[in-house]
Amino acid sequence: MDIKVDTGDITKIETGAVIVGIFEGEIKPGRDIVLLNKKLGKAISTSIERGEIKGRPGEITVIHTLGKLPSQHVAIMGLGKKEDFNPDRIRGSVAETCRTLRHKKVSDITVSTRLITKIRQVTLEDYAQAITEGAILGLYSFRKHITKENDFNEVKKLTLLAAKEDDVPLAIQGADKGKIIAEAVSLARDMVNEPANYMTPAAMAEVAQKIAQDNKIDITILEKEEMQKLGMGALLGVSQGSAQPPKLIILTYKGRKSGDIDLALVGKGITFDTGGISLKNATQLEEMKDDMSGGASVMAAIMSIAQLKMKINVTSVIPAVENMPDGGAIRPSDILIALTGKTIEIISTDAEGRLILCDALGYINKSKPKAIVDVATLTGACVVALGKQCSGILGNNQELIDKVISAGAQAGEPVWQLPLFQDYKEKLKSDVADMKNCGDSGGGTITGALFLSEFVGDTPWAHMDIAGTSYSDKERKYTIKGGTGIPVRTLVNLAIALSI
Ligand code: BES
Ligand code: ZN
Ligand code: ZN
Repeated sequence: MDIKVDTGDITKIETGAVIVGIFEGEIKPGRDIVLLNKKLGKAISTSIERGEIKGRPGEITVIHTLGKLPSQHVAIMGLGKKEDFNPDRIRGSVAETCRTLRHKKVSDITVSTRLITKIRQVTLEDYAQAITEGAILGLYSFRKHITKENDFNEVKKLTLLAAKEDDVPLAIQGADKGKIIAEAVSLARDMVNEPANYMTPAAMAEVAQKIAQDNKIDITILEKEEMQKLGMGALLGVSQGSAQPPKLIILTYKGRKSGDIDLALVGKGITFDTGGISLKNATQLEEMKDDMSGGASVMAAIMSIAQLKMKINVTSVIPAVENMPDGGAIRPSDILIALTGKTIEIISTDAEGRLILCDALGYINKSKPKAIVDVATLTGACVVALGKQCSGILGNNQELIDKVISAGAQAGEPVWQLPLFQDYKEKLKSDVADMKNCGDSGGGTITGALFLSEFVGDTPWAHMDIAGTSYSDKERKYTIKGGTGIPVRTLVNLAIALSI
């Protein structure tokens, strides 16, 4: 989608549709509505008087201009109460309004920013960013495998209309930033939506190569033999049952001179999780193509961080492996030796995420990063605890956890902390090895995180469980069905917070 910023008279713009906002309970509509209303023979004020337009969040009214304006449609978007307004509200409203207009065959949309030039402490830059993100994310679709002719309408152009010349630079800054971030989220969504026969570990490595090349990011890809030399027995154990060779992808972005890693992002890259010998049942098994969402999101995040030229050193590590049950597969009772030398008794081959992550964490921890955040679709228990709209977080450093939670809140990607309850370590005690790979049925998200905590030493570390949030079965605001791209925007906000 082509995105630009313009200024001028809203009643003179030639476009498919202009979108203007309206707050709930405001007696006097904004200047845009007054001007458009005049040209439309009071169509808007009549609807307001009749109570058809109330300004409630999610309310969308589309009026055909019938040649009274150069724009074919005017869309009035409810923004809710002004006192509750924030960037996430406009991100959601723009997304839904753009989708409604796409259904009406509109392919060129102009959004007025006049009403929201500054509300409380939020700047036009932030609102322009949110509008751009809302449009790109709300209009996202994954259609590359559909070959049959159809009349799907693509929105090709988005214009942000600034109230005056002076506002243009800020609006451009916000729109540029929004485009970079939303395109990274779209890349993460594409990778998640791609089925596992396409998005293999090797294909993930190819995407990483392209990200590295296009954005001056260093890349190392460790192959099976190198991992064998390093002693990554846990990661290699998981890959044993698959015909797909494993890859360990390491992307390094240096935004400042020092060699230190300020932030290491580690993402689970299980390209398909059958459960292995502890085979999953068939219900919704197709969704297990999303088990590489963590890996996709840390790849997309580092791409944005580089494109935004942040003054921070970030390394993303993605263990990319397929969990299959062939004749070479590991079995419950097998004992694996992790990179750090710890021995692990396998109780369930379906608790594979922690096995590939423990070697990735052990590997990056040797470089002594200042902080590690890992992102994984780790446990079904997290979906039970927090549902599908809130990610879980656990870790060994409250300051880092708080930063991630606040980065998520800013992004409209809620994150809720669960306790890293040390007493539950007992559940991981093994009679035959240093630890088991999973505990009993209770507190599964906690025992998963406790397992990982054994591989990060004293490094400040936070673990995000995105099992519920990485994939959506519903269209909602700027989320569409399929991969959500969560938590790319949280990670970008975190990097911004850490680079200040
Ligand atoms: N990839 C799954 C977790 C998952 C479940 C993600 C549902 C999204 C939706 C993970 O590898 C897994 O299978 N975890 C097991 C762990 C158990 C065996 C300790 C689980 O949650 O059942
Ligand atoms: Zn599993
Ligand atoms: Zn898994």
